[in-house]
Amino acid sequence: MKRIVLGTVSAAAMISASFAAAEPSAEVLHYWTSGGEAKSVAVLQKEFADNGGTWTDMPVAGGGGDAAMTALRARVLSGNAPTAVQLKGPAIQEWYEEGVLADISNVAEAEGWADVLPDSIAGHMKCEGNWCAAPVNVHRVDWIWANADVLEANGVEMPTSWDEFNAAAEKLQAAGVIPLAHGGQSWQDATVFEAVALGILGPDGFRKAFVDLDEATLTSDEMKAVFDQMRTMRGYVDENFPGRDWNLATAMVMNGEAAFQIMGDWAKGEFLAAGKVPGEDFLCASTPGEGFLYNVDSFAMFDVDGDDKRQGQELLAKLIVGQNFQKVFNLNKGSIPARTDVALEEFDSCAHLSSEDMTASSEGGSLLPSYAHGMALRGAQAGAITDVVTSHFNSDMSSEDAVQQLLTAVQNSM
Ligand code: GAL
Repeated sequence: MKRIVLGTVSAAAMISASFAAAEPSAEVLHYWTSGGEAKSVAVLQKEFADNGGTWTDMPVAGGGGDAAMTALRARVLSGNAPTAVQLKGPAIQEWYEEGVLADISNVAEAEGWADVLPDSIAGHMKCEGNWCAAPVNVHRVDWIWANADVLEANGVEMPTSWDEFNAAAEKLQAAGVIPLAHGGQSWQDATVFEAVALGILGPDGFRKAFVDLDEATLTSDEMKAVFDQMRTMRGYVDENFPGRDWNLATAMVMNGEAAFQIMGDWAKGEFLAAGKVPGEDFLCASTPGEGFLYNVDSFAMFDVDGDDKRQGQELLAKLIVGQNFQKVFNLNKGSIPARTDVALEEFDSCAHLSSEDMTASSEGGSLLPSYAHGMALRGAQAGAITDVVTSHFNSDMSSEDAVQQLLTAVQNSM
């Protein structure tokens, strides 16, 4: 892995002179294309330009990032990797093992990242002990969002158990309201599934299943209960859900067409971008159960040629973990800063709840990596689980068959 800056003394002199003279530039591959997402990445584009950088945008539409990862692989295989890529969790180390990432330890050490990032996050940003990615935020995945007026009009409270959720959904459905706004895409099915799994399996059960891939837990009665709950929730979505983008499901809650959405707090970025006020227009709560599912967006720097691009990578990494960007980006994006020393005064009540719950779950041992958003498992294992989850949700597969298929899929993915 190539260090961004230093070489031998004379080479250093030569490199630093040409390096120092180079104008920072970066081609940045990401999948932030929804209203709230685009508004958030624009913060980084502006900061980069304000610091003399030239940003070439490479947005690849498709929530969850599957299409972006396909585009990335094609670019790397053609020997033309982007300068920086929105890359998360174990996928960072998987790309490192292919020898195509750059080492940004120089920036991390100069900026003191180790002092301001929790170990749970810093660990994801390292490749064999060197910093190879810059963390942007902490998204929480296990959220339920609601339209405040729809709930009030139907005498429904935010549910604190899955039984309460089902009772509320039945009541809303009887009143002609779509209980659950959902987008029929496999990553969205997996997002709802893992929130349900956390609530029913509990934090330890979730860790055993989706971090340790414990076979007994994957085939347990509790896991059958998770699929039973998913089957019940299949009855609460509207008939037009197949293929719907996540932000369009958020819009259904926003305009009162639907009551609830279960989605990470990037959904809050959509509400905020539309001028909606938390606690007034929309409500936020963690999904029923204990624990906190985290999803950390980050940018990895690829091993590309050209002092301008290496300058660009250095500047990007520095800005991404900088105080100002960590605040302004996350105020827009719906997540909370990865840095622990950014004041949260300007953040809303949902962000405060996320930060408090993250601290409490970290201390209580229930802070868990999201499997659906690529924080817990390598791609092959995560993909195998999601294939079973989405085929169960979109069929009449029994829960008994689902847990058996889950075990087989995981075993075959090893
Ligand atoms: C996640 C990503 C978030 C969010 C979401 C929807 O995987 O980490 O930042 O944008 O997908 O696209």
